[in-house]
Amino acid sequence: MIKAAVIGDPIGHSKSPLIHGYWIEKYGLEGSYEAIQVSSNALKEKVKSLVDQGYTGFNVTIPHKEAIMALCDEVDATALAIGAVNAVTIQDGFVTGYNTDAFGFIENILQARPGFDFEKGPAFVLGAGGAARAVIYGLLKAGAPHVILTNRTTGKADELKAEYGAALEVVDWQEKENHLANANICVNTTSLGMKSKPELEINLENLPRDALVSDIVYAPLETTLLKSAKSLGNPTVSGIGMLLHQARPAFEKWFGVMPEVTTELQDLVLK
Ligand code: ATR
Repeated sequence: MIKAAVIGDPIGHSKSPLIHGYWIEKYGLEGSYEAIQVSSNALKEKVKSLVDQGYTGFNVTIPHKEAIMALCDEVDATALAIGAVNAVTIQDGFVTGYNTDAFGFIENILQARPGFDFEKGPAFVLGAGGAARAVIYGLLKAGAPHVILTNRTTGKADELKAEYGAALEVVDWQEKENHLANANICVNTTSLGMKSKPELEINLENLPRDALVSDIVYAPLETTLLKSAKSLGNPTVSGIGMLLHQARPAFEKWFGVMPEVTTELQDLVLK
């Protein structure tokens, strides 16, 4: 019996039990996946107890994605570069941390737009938070020649610039529209446009009409950003796929099956 879980605080809203539970059933596996609420001051003890209880692994969500790194015996290169761990395996008591968000982001785009050429031109990224770190890593790994980054708080974008150097160009949030002209892909990684959050205000007219526009916000599924991109004739990819695809490599590590994202699963998660 394989035991897996997601830990976070709060955890009630997590879609991970639904996603992994769907795959456990679909592939007829002997296993469980549960949501466990763990506060920051209980994290260390809880990880130890999951190891002692024979868990095969677990996902890590807000607010533990950074703190978990110090509790892993090993953190893989991708997670180290992104600076966060969202999935853990436990093998004979040895805890390894991974980050599957960059994979989820890129895979979502490639499944929605097969053959999309990341190398064709620079990527334009809005936001410099945790999600942006995975998206930027994924874009550069996939071959984007460089990333043009804009964030309301310039200091946070500058921190990323210090890590990535010439591969990253920081532009002013107030003047973002002036830097869209060469973009091959435009990605929103901010929380703007999410249900109950303010709208993302950006005029996409300067963007080449064949540039792909993608949002990591998936509630609503079609954000105002995606709507306005569509109305200008740009191709778009919604954010729900990133959530679904980031779950796949972790499931494979624990259960030995690389699961598929189906429309049935997507509908279930969006319900
Ligand atoms: P996540 O881990 O989901 O990326 P985060 O680390 O809190 O969450 O990052 C949220 C992102 O949304 C940041 O880029 C944030 O900009 P700041 O760095 O300036 O805070 C952006 N964001 C949130 N609310 C915003 C707003 N009202 N206007 C502009 N950007 C906003």
